[in-house]
Amino acid sequence: MSNQTSEKVRALYEKYPYPPRAPGESVDPYVDYMLGFSRVPLRHSPTFLDAGCGTGACALGAAVLNKNLQVFACDFNQSGLDAIEDDIDELGLNNIELRRLDLLNLPEDFGPEQGFDVIYCMGVIHHTPDPAGVLKALAGRLAPQGVMRLMVYADKGRHALYRFAGAVQSLPLSHEATIDERVMAAKSLLMELESVTARQGYPVPSLRGILADSNSVSLEEFVDRYLHPHDEPYNLGLLREHIEAAGLKFHRWFESRYWDLEELLPEASERGDFPTDDWQRFEIVEELFDRDQYDCYLVKPGFLANDGPLTLDCSIKLSPQVHLTEVSYRGFGLEHKARVLFYPDESLSLEQAKILKAVAKQARTLKELLSEWGVENERLWLNEASWLLRRDYLFRPNF
Ligand SMILES: C[S@@+](CC[C@H](N)C(=O)[O-])C[C@H]1O[C@@H](n2cnc3c(N)ncnc32)[C@H](O)[C@@H]1O
Repeated sequence: MSNQTSEKVRALYEKYPYPPRAPGESVDPYVDYMLGFSRVPLRHSPTFLDAGCGTGACALGAAVLNKNLQVFACDFNQSGLDAIEDDIDELGLNNIELRRLDLLNLPEDFGPEQGFDVIYCMGVIHHTPDPAGVLKALAGRLAPQGVMRLMVYADKGRHALYRFAGAVQSLPLSHEATIDERVMAAKSLLMELESVTARQGYPVPSLRGILADSNSVSLEEFVDRYLHPHDEPYNLGLLREHIEAAGLKFHRWFESRYWDLEELLPEASERGDFPTDDWQRFEIVEELFDRDQYDCYLVKPGFLANDGPLTLDCSIKLSPQVHLTEVSYRGFGLEHKARVLFYPDESLSLEQAKILKAVAKQARTLKELLSEWGVENERLWLNEASWLLRRDYLFRPNF
């Protein structure tokens, strides 16, 4: 049974490799940022594993952006690996190794002896018949001070999607109907739902939130969403159980502010309305907001986090997920704004903007910067930099 499931999943991705991307296109998986989570200095050339890499957008981004990094990418579908192979040749990369393998049978000696410094496993294990087993096998390949980024689907936030997928599955198409015929039927249904929505004036469930773009997404994305042969979403309890069973520890969410009740509901937080236990708080967030995935950083129990206070001698760098902007107002000079990931823009003080610009390309210590600028009020600048660090505008690099 489990072999049959795996085979269906592999065949789907063989035909519709994910993520769809143009040749050479890649994304930054923030490896340098993740390596900065540990306070134990890294003394070797770091290693990165993209487990279930698909067409390799993250693996390629990691290899292109960090020439010192040794990148490993594995998947059990060949089409995705072929796409990466083409790009490796085209880009002349020599720091990336590909391996076709099934994560359900991950060889214990796969990768470097000391384990991987960073492991990515994004959108993969909920498509396997043994997600807990895969997570445990990957944990076994994580270095003691390594960091794993795991993303799995969240049941509650994807409820509308599963309802629509369920409706599509119930359409009385013949058993021999090809996946393309199913896609056509699903798309026609969605199109009609769009006109119903227009008539009603409010969206039907299958077109709300993340699903609103369903008719314009690529074929690969559409199939991945609605016609997947095996998509077993998580809930918070199961996620916690699998993390613990794998011998791992939850470090924090990737989008930490989206799970932070003080950020989301400051008045109720101020009144002390919420419980103090982290997981109970996450459950409240999940009930009140749409969270369609659990995207988190995991570590091993002996992990030594670099979470002490910032000092003048610490190297600091602009976080890779920051977008900085300068807005000019006629007669009023410049206003500096920045945002991390998809969070709203925040206005920066002049000191904050100056620090961020100074460490955008290269890591520096605050001490070096203040002496270059001839500034004396160290306390003020340290406070400004600490605020930037707390809100993820800065990180402390470790290699
Ligand atoms: C939704 S795609 C995610 C691709 C990539 N991680 C990303 O975030 O874009 C899921 C990938 O997991 C791979 N996969 C699923 N089960 C696997 C298994 N048992 N062993 C290896 N790869 C697997 C699929 O072939 C597919 O490429």
